[in-house]
Amino acid sequence: MANSRAVRGTTSARHVAMIMDGNGRWAVERGQPRLLGHKRGVETVREIVKSCPDLGVTHLTMFAFSTENWKRSKTEVSGLMLLLRRYIQKEIADLIDKGIRLRFIGRKDRVEKGLRALMESAEKRTEHNNKLHLTIAIDYGGRDEMTRVMQGIAVDIAARKLTPADVSEALISSRLDTFDLPDPDLVIRTSGECRTSNFLLWQTAYAEYEFVDVNWPDFTPEIFGQMLENFMLRDRRFGAVAK
Ligand code: FPP
Repeated sequence: MANSRAVRGTTSARHVAMIMDGNGRWAVERGQPRLLGHKRGVETVREIVKSCPDLGVTHLTMFAFSTENWKRSKTEVSGLMLLLRRYIQKEIADLIDKGIRLRFIGRKDRVEKGLRALMESAEKRTEHNNKLHLTIAIDYGGRDEMTRVMQGIAVDIAARKLTPADVSEALISSRLDTFDLPDPDLVIRTSGECRTSNFLLWQTAYAEYEFVDVNWPDFTPEIFGQMLENFMLRDRRFGAVAK
């Protein structure tokens, strides 16, 4: 990354969380079905994953399907699921070859059995890789994740395995889907919308945000690199005062 202009901040963003928005608009603007936008979106996923090592990104977490996305038409939901399935099938050999660890976060109980088996197998086959930690959020919602954690804690308190005094930030973090991932440094959302849409609510407490007015299929490694440069100019204080 050409980061010589970055003087203010000290470190680069190692964990980037990506809200890949604007696939539908990209397609509609071209008079095409929304699914074509998602299909082109997968191409962007490939390019962005490929660019991470050169940009110094070690963790990339991508929001592919939210707990709310089930409300979309049957055609769009099954099309998205098929794209995810094909992505895993097509990419797995390359991910293994490039030392990329693939993981999934989100509810597992509502994902179709065949896709779930594919996800589990991909996780197992890449579990010893560490060049890039690629996490894909499927049927994921931050509120849903926290609700599942709270239910688990409530069960353990009822069973007297925990007391209320044991409930700490560290305990909650250790029970999130992302329990062994660092918190994101930077969240990027494409398409010009400026909201979090229930993505990694707990984990992004001190993340920096970048919103870019480009639909996801048009997002490029160059724009990504520029955003990472901007990140390095930020003064992250985590609630403390400037030095
Ligand atoms: C948001 O755009 C995008 C999604 C809901 C799906 C994102 C999925 C992919 C890019 C493909 C699969 C991903 C992987 C990791 C293989 P939108 O449909 O909400 O766009 P709109 O706001 O313009 O309608």
